[in-house]
Amino acid sequence: MAGLTINGVTKTFGDFDAVKDVSIDVRDGEFLAVLGPSGCGKTTLLRLVAGFENVTSGDIRIGREIVSTAQGCVPPEKRRVGIVFQNYALWPHMTVAENIGYSLKVAKVDAETRKRRVEDAMALVDLKGFGDRRPANLSGGQRQRVALARCLVAAPSLVLFDEPLANLDVHLRAAMEDEFAAFHKRTGTTIVYITHDQAEAMALADRIAVMDNGRLAQLAAPRDLYREPANEMVASFISEGIVLPAKVLIPAEGGHVKVDVLGQEVVVRCRPDEMRRAEAKICCRGPEISAAAPDEPGIDGTVRRAVYKGGVARIEFAPDADPSVVLHFEQPDPNPFEAGARARVRIASGWLIPGGASA
Ligand SMILES: Nc1ncnc2c1ncn2[C@@H]1O[C@H](COP(=O)(O)OP(=O)(O)OP(=O)(O)O)[C@@H](O)[C@H]1O
Ligand SMILES: [Mg+2]
Repeated sequence: MAGLTINGVTKTFGDFDAVKDVSIDVRDGEFLAVLGPSGCGKTTLLRLVAGFENVTSGDIRIGREIVSTAQGCVPPEKRRVGIVFQNYALWPHMTVAENIGYSLKVAKVDAETRKRRVEDAMALVDLKGFGDRRPANLSGGQRQRVALARCLVAAPSLVLFDEPLANLDVHLRAAMEDEFAAFHKRTGTTIVYITHDQAEAMALADRIAVMDNGRLAQLAAPRDLYREPANEMVASFISEGIVLPAKVLIPAEGGHVKVDVLGQEVVVRCRPDEMRRAEAKICCRGPEISAAAPDEPGIDGTVRRAVYKGGVARIEFAPDADPSVVLHFEQPDPNPFEAGARARVRIASGWLIPGGASA
């Protein structure tokens, strides 16, 4: 097992920075998820850690060993890093056991030791007794577990996953998610896990790194990421956060601040060291928005859409104060909001996004 230190790493392709000055310290045994829009540099970052690409500047350490600097780089096979990609190509002509043991064979590990380690790896991913099957005769989830065992058999100190569940159906994903969590608990392996699925990241990870245009936008525990996004990008990217302009009415004190949002006064959470300013932006989320009575403080507007989703309806609401923004939330049955109708909603709380209105 080993921690991973990514220190001020930049990777440039031609004149394009795919990864820009990223620093992440992954603790020994930590499960780190990496989230971000397509093309933000997630896979590139993983390839740098694995040693398939070299850094343009900065350095990477695995455990205490410096494995990448601009001057040189330890080759992938010497890094003890296991990798599971989205398209986990297995050799179709080999059995499950042969697939799993292939890297040991190449490394000239003797047959006896090989057999034992392959069996251990199969037990670890719950594939005992499947050794003689061919990949074609396995389910998608079982194949994925073969890919996992194939990576684990080399006793990696660090395992990198690049969207390992992207090809699987919803039920299988849930089952594999449980498997990954159990595997992590059992082995304490340090894991870096790229996904597009935010719920998956929240469920599995100790911390989540959000990337944006090659940069690290925020690195935080799932709950902190959700509750206290560091900037507008993270606020809107995580769980469909709604970013709204706000006027500060009473300067922040003790982690709270009173603001005017779309004509409604709301007390929102903020950083304890939030500075005095007049204009700001807040992030609020569906569960913080609800129907308001006519005599209650609230926001008037028009219901744009009401889509029934079983038990709840998703409401999209355009406030009169700024029809360019959309407030969306889920309304449990019975739903009083009808598409096209006038309505009044209330924002109960929110988060003052740090760094000023233009952050
Ligand atoms: N070898 C390369 N040469 C030139 N540009 C590259 C190369 N590899 C990646 N890029 C560019 O770097 C950027 C980041 O790519 P990367 O594959 O890391 O994104 P990603 O976050 O993994 O995206 P996705 O979620 O779609 O997988 C993209 O704009 C991509 O086109
Ligand atoms: Mg990718």
